[in-house]
Amino acid sequence: MASDIEKRIEELREIISDHDYCYYVLADPVISDSEYDKLYKELEKLENENPQLITPDSPTRRVGKDLTKVFNPVTHKVPMLSLANSYNEEAVVDFDRRVKELLPDNEKVEYVVELKIDGASVSLNYVNGVLKTAATRGDGTVGEEITNNVKTIRSVPLKLKMTKSIKYSMNDFEVRGEIFMRINDFLELNREREEAGEKLFANPRNSTAGTLKLQDPKTVAKRKLNIFLYSLISLEDELKAQEENLLLLKELGFKINPKYKVCKNIEEVLEVCRAFEKIRDNLEYEVDGAVIKVNSIIQQKILGSIAKSPRWAVAYKFKAKQAFTKVKNITWQVGRTGAVTPVAELEAVFLAGSTISRATLHNIDEIRRKDIRTGDKVVIEKGGDVIPKVVSVILDERPLNTMKTDPPEECPVCNSKIVKLENEVALYCENPECPAQIKGRLIHFASRGAMDIEGLGEALIELFVENGFLKTFTDIYELKKRRNELIQIERLGEKSVDNLLQSIEKSKSQPFHKVLFALGIRYVGAGAAKKLTGHFGSVNKMISATEKQISEIHEIGPSISKSLKQFFSQKHSLEIIEKLKAEGLIFSSEKRKINNSLLTGKTIVLTGTLTLFSRDEAGEKIIALGGKVSSSVSKKTDYVVYGENAGSKLIKAKDIGVKLIDEKEFLKLLKEYLQND
Ligand code: IVH
Repeated sequence: MASDIEKRIEELREIISDHDYCYYVLADPVISDSEYDKLYKELEKLENENPQLITPDSPTRRVGKDLTKVFNPVTHKVPMLSLANSYNEEAVVDFDRRVKELLPDNEKVEYVVELKIDGASVSLNYVNGVLKTAATRGDGTVGEEITNNVKTIRSVPLKLKMTKSIKYSMNDFEVRGEIFMRINDFLELNREREEAGEKLFANPRNSTAGTLKLQDPKTVAKRKLNIFLYSLISLEDELKAQEENLLLLKELGFKINPKYKVCKNIEEVLEVCRAFEKIRDNLEYEVDGAVIKVNSIIQQKILGSIAKSPRWAVAYKFKAKQAFTKVKNITWQVGRTGAVTPVAELEAVFLAGSTISRATLHNIDEIRRKDIRTGDKVVIEKGGDVIPKVVSVILDERPLNTMKTDPPEECPVCNSKIVKLENEVALYCENPECPAQIKGRLIHFASRGAMDIEGLGEALIELFVENGFLKTFTDIYELKKRRNELIQIERLGEKSVDNLLQSIEKSKSQPFHKVLFALGIRYVGAGAAKKLTGHFGSVNKMISATEKQISEIHEIGPSISKSLKQFFSQKHSLEIIEKLKAEGLIFSSEKRKINNSLLTGKTIVLTGTLTLFSRDEAGEKIIALGGKVSSSVSKKTDYVVYGENAGSKLIKAKDIGVKLIDEKEFLKLLKEYLQND
């Protein structure tokens, strides 16, 4: 029998959830803030006095105290697809034609047109009506678990309202939607960040994605994230139409975007798209297009998907937004390859979700073609992810005394001579010691797709280069000798220095193809690096290959082979490689050593929170060393790799005498075996 306290707790939770629903989902509060606070405090008090009655779906549990140290991988039960884009009305008509071709003759097709919200997609899993996990899209198959952060979003129900009229069982299902930040909340956040001297977010989408990956849910809770759900995926229950799906979501207490329209034919779809494009500037949130979906789920199933996008839906992207502004100055920026590119410094304007104060001008030919000058009034444009660009100059409004723009003769950073290579429009600073190039190379080296050194971002690299701590790639691995100097730096402190040094050590286990990419050899992108390492297997073989041998590799063109050969023919490059090898970086993908590693043929169990690796990463490495990962500890287990807060598996392993390896030892082991001679 439930006690009176238990009943009151239950009742309060329901009342509070109902008020959250009215306030955050319907935007129609029915009680005052102080009345709400009173109820909340009563619940908090009862729960504090009776901690055994606390449940994770209680409204008081929205904001957790614990930091999310690792965002664990989550495999989506149904892949999260993306949408093919169409940029004009003809493409939408083509989409309709393709849909009809694939369906039985003369079958009527209804469409649902929704706004395409520009945020971060998310999948929420509800089990027996309670939010269990929330995950990012990731690569569409595996995302990252962000439950603690999503729970802080007040328009996300922790527990669903299962009214009698809902005829589905709803035991276990996922809902998909878009988390976003309203433009005003984004602007306010940036104002606060500016005051605090913090880096500004470029647009509401970036601030949403950044917020969802914060470790502290308390900070996330302050950021005012919001959500619109657009799809319920249930493996148990069959829905008949997308509209029914939206209505069911609404009935369950989810926030859906109310502006969707059901259309009888493609002409109606186009009208809705045009109407959406007209209202986009009046919305409180950013949208980058419309999503057109075949309404009937049976028809959706017949149409199916190709690769990563469904044949039954398409995105209609809105035109790039334009704005007028003034060119304050034209400056020249030096990249990591020494390429000197012009940038227009603009009078700040707000455009498509962000404040723009710079635009790329590509190269001197582009400047001459458009005759862009300092002082000009210009039209700028920004579409989706694209870096803003200057579309044209308003010549009628050109002030007197403007001057044609000339390219610099000297590098704006190091004053070395500037050269123009044959057959190229780009200009180059010839000095490899130019600080701008040094910084650019280091930023690339440490970046996510390369050595993935967490914490070593642009600002820190800049600081370290200026302090003389960093110049070459090897200096990064020598930073550990300067720990005492580093912790003296005001912004850093002991903990962040140690975290940084740890991620530097961890980067030594990056595979050969990432190391090759990290070197920043011209034209050798991530894809080419993978092909080259896959073909040659070791850096020594790559060095001794002729240009012809390199260019014979499938999909490796002449510019890559020429550039690679040129790189390896320089003494300086070979020295860099030798030094990095000595530091323990991997320059071989051959499995030779791996066949007799400590883990070869062994069964390993991972347990506890790993802080240096994600579970997936650790698993991949074990497999690379010839081991097998298992989820439960038994007599057959050879090793247990344990992280923080390991529980029952660690205890069992101790009991039955399985060898234990902590995370640091595990990293040491990886380095020992995954590196090359
Ligand atoms: S439907 C298979 N509907 O746009 C269906 N997506 O590439 C795929 N998005 O990141 C998604 N608003 O999160 C759909 N009303 C909407 C949407 C929407 C925004 C996002 C989605 C994904 C991208 C599609």
